[in-house]
Amino acid sequence: MSSDEEEKIKNEERIKQMARVVCICKGINLGKVLKGMEGCSTVAEVNRATGCGTGGCQGQRCGPRIKMLLEKMSQTK
Ligand code: FES
Repeated sequence: MSSDEEEKIKNEERIKQMARVVCICKGINLGKVLKGMEGCSTVAEVNRATGCGTGGCQGQRCGPRIKMLLEKMSQTK
């Protein structure tokens, strides 16, 4: 497999990951959450920036995912 083909497959995987839904109630995907997370350090801040946590479950499902993403982001800084 050529490096161009490998890069194309990696890009497709990145796009698929970004399209994954983080907040099921509001249909907010990972790409939007990651963009909204910039400068945020708490789940509440991310919720305000993205609209996550305002759906029917009030963040019971997406809150833990956002918390995990914040932890991962802080580890990579
Ligand atoms: S999954 Fe986000 S508010 Fe329910």
